[in-house]
Amino acid sequence: MTTIKHVGVVGAGQMGRGITEVCARAGLRVTLCDVTEDRARAGLAGVADSLLKAEKRGAITSEGRAHALAGVSVTADLSRLSGADLVIEAAVEDEQAKTALFRQLDKVVTDPAAVLASNTSSIPIARLAAVTGRPESVVGLHFFNPVPVMPLVEVIPSLQTSKATELRVLAFAGETLGKKAIVTQDRAGFVVNSLLVPYLLAAVRMVSSGTATAEDIDTGMTAGCAHPMGPLRLADLIGLDTVAAIGEALYEEYREPLYAPPPLLRRMVESGLLGRKSGQGFFNYQAA
Ligand code: 3HC
Repeated sequence: MTTIKHVGVVGAGQMGRGITEVCARAGLRVTLCDVTEDRARAGLAGVADSLLKAEKRGAITSEGRAHALAGVSVTADLSRLSGADLVIEAAVEDEQAKTALFRQLDKVVTDPAAVLASNTSSIPIARLAAVTGRPESVVGLHFFNPVPVMPLVEVIPSLQTSKATELRVLAFAGETLGKKAIVTQDRAGFVVNSLLVPYLLAAVRMVSSGTATAEDIDTGMTAGCAHPMGPLRLADLIGLDTVAAIGEALYEEYREPLYAPPPLLRRMVESGLLGRKSGQGFFNYQAA
């Protein structure tokens, strides 16, 4: 089992940036790819900013920060990932976009032993593996937001993922990145989102029905159940578009009403109220 030294990350949004940061901090070479150079460079700027914050609070040394940053390069050319040992796709949560990417990755990543992983939160890995000629090397590797803080990674082998691939990514997540890994079956939502998303959607329904204010619903769960943040701030952190997309995927898989995104959530997404990343969701972040 060869050690993973070069990681390609596809998608320079909040998850791609976080994954890039933890890989770079683990001393790996990372190539961060997005559809335009500008987006990839913005992703790198976000990683640099987060590393600086980590240095300021004493989580890494100045040398550690410089070393991590020096290991990251950016590109808009997917073929620059050709030599990667592991590619982690963290693009938009859209099945068509992801299958198109896996088709391309299958062509450009030259090492047949390289692992093609997806950070999808809800799309079955089997569907992504099916468009490649190497389903045994395709696996789910699902990180949690904020990636530098959350210890968990879900490892999702599909029915065709080889045991060698599963063990390789388990070692990568646990030993190389120092994360806590759990293995879950290839079902939409895996373990965490299957439990979390219905809870978040229930909180949105409470806002709609006027049960309590957003502030009081969140206080209910932070002060009443010791959650680090309430469901509506958490939905804002994840991104309301992402929460809605996961709900749709879960509903498509199980047809259970508790997974269906409520009208208020759909209207907020359609209005560009996406949570923290757009500055406004259930709460306002303009000044943050
Ligand atoms: N990036 C890096 N570090 C961050 C960060 C970020 N975006 N946000 C917070 N941190 C760090 C802080 O710097 C601080 O570090 P320190 O302890 O070394 O000083 C530490 O995290 C705590 O942060 P704060 O003191 O600023 O704030 P809180 O104590 O309120 O913690 C939080 C913030 C870590 C986000 C906490 O509220 C929390 O754990 N929230 C729940 C998050 C959660 O449930 N995530 C899972 C989402 S589900 C998901 O991602 C799956 C997907 O598929 C949808």
